[in-house]
Amino acid sequence: MSLQMTSDPSKPTLYQQVAGRIRSLIDGGTLRPGDRVPSVRRLSSQMSISISTVLEAYRVLEDERYIEARPQSGYYVRTPATIPPVPTKTRSDRVPLEPGADDLVVRVISDSQKPGIVPLGAAIPSAEYFPTVRLNRILARVVRDDPGTSQSYDSIAGHQGLRVQIARRLVEAGLSVTPDDIITSAGAQEAVLLCLRAVTKPGDTVAVETPTYFGLLEAIRSLHLRVLEIGTDADEGVCLEDLSEAIVRKRVAACVFVPNFGNPLGHKMPDDRKAELVSLLARHDVPLIEDDIYADLAFEGDRPVAAKSFDRADNVLLCSSFSKTLAPGYRVGWVVPGKYRPLVERLKFSTSVATATPTQMAVASYLESGGFDRHLRRLRRLYRDQVARVACTVGETFPEGTRVSRPLGGHILWVEMPQEIDSLEVYGRALEEGISVAPGPLFSAADKYRNFLRLNCALPWSDETEDAIARLGRLVSAIALR
Ligand SMILES: Cc1ncc(COP(=O)(O)O)c(C=O)c1O
Repeated sequence: MSLQMTSDPSKPTLYQQVAGRIRSLIDGGTLRPGDRVPSVRRLSSQMSISISTVLEAYRVLEDERYIEARPQSGYYVRTPATIPPVPTKTRSDRVPLEPGADDLVVRVISDSQKPGIVPLGAAIPSAEYFPTVRLNRILARVVRDDPGTSQSYDSIAGHQGLRVQIARRLVEAGLSVTPDDIITSAGAQEAVLLCLRAVTKPGDTVAVETPTYFGLLEAIRSLHLRVLEIGTDADEGVCLEDLSEAIVRKRVAACVFVPNFGNPLGHKMPDDRKAELVSLLARHDVPLIEDDIYADLAFEGDRPVAAKSFDRADNVLLCSSFSKTLAPGYRVGWVVPGKYRPLVERLKFSTSVATATPTQMAVASYLESGGFDRHLRRLRRLYRDQVARVACTVGETFPEGTRVSRPLGGHILWVEMPQEIDSLEVYGRALEEGISVAPGPLFSAADKYRNFLRLNCALPWSDETEDAIARLGRLVSAIALR
C-alpha cells in the first residue's frame, strides 16, 4: 500500500486513507465479518506509519461500526454489517393507476420538522452538513452590496451569473450547455412540475421507477395524470424491457426517472443503460424528465454522467437543485429543458414569474468564490459514513428478516422489515416516541411496500440519534413478536 501525506484540507488525511483502505477491503469482501483486521503494530510497520495513525484510523472504523475491538485480542470486522440487501429488482405494474389523494405526505414532512423529533422521515439533511454560516454571510453581503437587484424580479430564466456557474458544473455531468439553455426554479420539485406540465396533458400516463420519491408522485397526482410504475433493479436501474413494452402499447406520454442514486433505492443506472434508455425514448418521441438531484453525492469515484449526456434529440429535460448539497431552504434549482425550453419558460412565468433573486445571487457568488467541490468531497464521505452507521444500527436492533438497501450515493436507506410488519403502524408508534420515519406505501401509487421504511441518514450522529434508531428497532421487533 502506498499512502501519501497531504496538507490539502479537502484531501483525506493519512489516517482517513488508512481507514478507507480497510473499509474497501471489508466492502469488497476480502475481510469478512468476524475476520481479524491487521494488528495495529503490523499495519504500522507494513505501511511505515505511526501507531497513533493506525489507532486513529481504527477509531474511525469503530465509530462507523465497521470493526470492533475485542479485549486482549485485537480488532475484528463486525458481524451486523452483513444485514442482507433488499431484493435487487422490483416488479412493474401492468396498468396505469390514478394516484389517490393522500395527506400522509404532508404529515410525514411536517412531523419531521417538529422541534424535538428525530427526523428520520424527511430526506432533509441537517444544516451541519452544509457551509451554512459562509452561505448566509454571502447572502447578507450580496443583498447589502446590491439592494436594487436583489429586491427586484430576476429574468424568467433566472440569474445570469448562477446559470453560468450551473453550465460550468454540468460539464462534469457530460453536458455541454450554455447559460441560455438553463432555467432556474424553486428547487428540483418545481423544475419537475414545470416539465410535466410542458410535456403532458391531464389523463396522460407517466412512467416512474418503483419505488420512487413521493414528491414525484405528488406532482403527477396534482396534474391529474396517471402513473405506470416500472420495475427497477438496484444494479441496472429501471427495467428497459418492461418500459419498452409499455411504450409500444402507447401507454406512456413521458417518463420521470432518477437514474443517479434514486430515492429511496440509492441505485445507479449504468451508463450504457442510460444511453439505451435515451435512445429508446427518442425513437418513440417520449420525453424523459431526468431528476438528477443526488448525482453530486456518489460514495465512490466521480459524479456519474447524466442520461441527458446521451441525448442527441434534445428530448431529455434535466432537473436538479442545491437542496441536497447546500441549502434546501434557499429553494434554488434548475432545469435544462432541451427542445421544450420556450414552453417551460412560459410555464415558469405563469407559475411564479421568476425564482427568488437573493438566494440565486448568494448561490452564484458562493460557487464563483470556489470551494464547492471541496465541500462536496467532504459531504460525500460524511453521507457515506452516516448511511453505514444507520445500516449497522438497523442490523443490530431490527428483527430477524430485516433487509437494507446498498445505496451507492445520497443519504437515504431503504429498509425492508419482515412481511407482517405494517410500516404505517410503525410510523404512528415511532412518532409517539419522538421519531419520524417515512412509511413504504408513500413510495408507490399501488399500495406497495407496506413493510418498508425509508430512513434519512443525514442527521447529526450522536448517542441520542443512535438510541432513537435502536428504539425504533426494538419497537419493530416488539410488533414482530406479537
Ligand atoms: C428525487 C428527489 N427529487 C426532488 C426532490 C425535491 O427537491 P427540492 O428540494 O430541490 O425541490 C427531492 C427531495 O427529497 C428528491 O428526493
